[in-house]
Amino acid sequence: MPKIGDRTHYCTELAESDIGKTVTVKGWAAKRRDFGGLIFVDLRDRTGIMQVVFDASQTPDFALAESVRSEYVLAVTGTLRRRDDDMINPKLKTGTVEVLAHSAEILADADTPPFAIDEADKVNELTRLKYRYLDLRTDGMVERMRMRSEMMHVTREYMHKHGFWEVETPYLGKSTPEGARDYLVPSRIKNGAFYALPQSPQLYKQLLMIGGVDKYYQIARCFRDEDLRANRQPEFTQIDMEMSFCTQRQVMDTAYGLVRDIFKKCGGVKLPAKIREMPYDEAMTRFGSDKPDTRFGLELVDVSDLAKGCGFQVFERAVATKDGSVRLINAKGFVSEKNQILSRRDVDALGEFVKTYRAKGLAWIWVKPDGELNSSITKFMSKETVDAILARANAEPGDILLFAADKNDVVFKTLGALRLHLAEKGKLIDKSKFDVLWLVDFPMFEWSDEEKRFVAQHHPFTMPHESDLEFLESDPARVRAAAYDLIINGEESGGGSLRIHDRRLQERIFRILGFTDEQIEERFGFFVNAFKYGAPPHGGLAFGFDRLVMMLTDTDNIKDVIAFPKIQNASDMMTQAPTPVDKKQTDDLGIKIVDKI
Ligand code: AMO
Ligand code: AMP
Repeated sequence: MPKIGDRTHYCTELAESDIGKTVTVKGWAAKRRDFGGLIFVDLRDRTGIMQVVFDASQTPDFALAESVRSEYVLAVTGTLRRRDDDMINPKLKTGTVEVLAHSAEILADADTPPFAIDEADKVNELTRLKYRYLDLRTDGMVERMRMRSEMMHVTREYMHKHGFWEVETPYLGKSTPEGARDYLVPSRIKNGAFYALPQSPQLYKQLLMIGGVDKYYQIARCFRDEDLRANRQPEFTQIDMEMSFCTQRQVMDTAYGLVRDIFKKCGGVKLPAKIREMPYDEAMTRFGSDKPDTRFGLELVDVSDLAKGCGFQVFERAVATKDGSVRLINAKGFVSEKNQILSRRDVDALGEFVKTYRAKGLAWIWVKPDGELNSSITKFMSKETVDAILARANAEPGDILLFAADKNDVVFKTLGALRLHLAEKGKLIDKSKFDVLWLVDFPMFEWSDEEKRFVAQHHPFTMPHESDLEFLESDPARVRAAAYDLIINGEESGGGSLRIHDRRLQERIFRILGFTDEQIEERFGFFVNAFKYGAPPHGGLAFGFDRLVMMLTDTDNIKDVIAFPKIQNASDMMTQAPTPVDKKQTDDLGIKIVDKI
């Protein structure tokens, strides 16, 4: 039988108004200070810290306090009292009070932890992940887990209020065409066959619409075997939704309404009721990105017309190529005398930086304080051309123009990335603000050089714009889709589309994507079949839930908002998963391991 009864309060629930009460608190010994006859223990639970005093003259269990070490688990009953004036700690929520222990019990002892909890931020991430259960005790992790839970709660409330049903779709399913590699689960009953863990519940949620569910949502785990980045995990969470008989406007309003609600209730952030919609083409030509960060300028300037016959071979060649262009960014004031953000050496480094985006170089024109030009390319061009470029770019002393000349996709990728890089370097981003917009009118198809065919930009079930249907076969590149992404601070927080519900149109799309009838039958037979039996018009969207949590907890590391995340090579530092399994298990599955790791 435990000596001490139930907890009466969490540590930080106690305030001065409770002084005199007998209370029971439970938690971990965060710190212990021994002054002989007086021992102070900072007791920590998930709400924070309460100071507990063991006084040799007043605490019968005083001897126990002498054996307490860091991270021991304790239960303490005592009287809440005011701290002596010189012991008041204004940094703590409970800094004016303390519990004078009457009785105490050690519920578990603890080895010396590999790192002190309050110094976890000084420890490398891999160690913290190896001992994630200790890392979870830190203030930062506690706050992020609390926020995550709160956001899920608000999501559920909002979705139910708007008439959505929460439906769970299978984890063991059939591969859905979301574009990444699948995680496969071998079948024991059907040797040689595999389930795929869902990359998203896309097909199932559409089938739910055919099934008449009308409004569905799920806080769904998704699995994608793709390269990890700071904002990507192989296993992540979506707020997934789908609705029937709806317009694009209704889906967008419902989805944005949820984000507004979450930001307000969980982050105290008031997002505007109405936000702008930016067509894809505008986003690319102005910002070089389909997820533009519009908190700063540095917009792209097209000088392709001026590059024609300009004398500089690289530029001339680029504009003579199909889908080629020459564009620049004016890094305004980046080389001014007073505030030189870029040095000559930095400019050379940028030339290397852009190569990651397949750019072949980065031409530049530097306008010196006296108006003189220093440049890698002006020597090739006439004064008129140079002047026209400077005028187009609104160039002034202290500016440097940075050029990319290539096919549009390379130019946009390069300048889009350069723009963000320059904004960081020049500290142009006001990080206290949230910048939210809808990106709309995505192209329906994208040409894949690798596969030598058109591929779906979003997914093959996306509805093309009604007015573009006539170009489906003749000019697929021109067809826009009823797809939309919600961009927050230059990050894709979520995306969705209206779906095709007319099976004849779906077949046309499959043909443009180069699927044979056999492939359609094999991959989506069950899905296409369902559309024969009455599919309502429908559409939906999915938010990257982890990314929303990142935004409200102000971290750029997705691992920070997931209790047990994976590291770069998709393994788990704590369990070491994935790990080899017994031969008996692989035998059952009919699997022979050829090459061991
Ligand atoms: P999409 O593939 O755009 O759409 O995914 C929706 C959102 O999920 C988030 N996301 C990720 N978050 C963390 N780690 C990842 N690896 C990862 N991949 C994606 C992004 C993204 O915007 N079924 C469609 C949605 C629909 O059409 O309704 C889908 O999955 O924030
Ligand atoms: P070069 O004549 O090759 O020395 O190039 C002159 C300048 O043009 C250098 O600053 C190169 O970095 C730049 N440059 C080369 N290729 C490109 C390109 N495709 N786009 C933009 N700048 C380029």
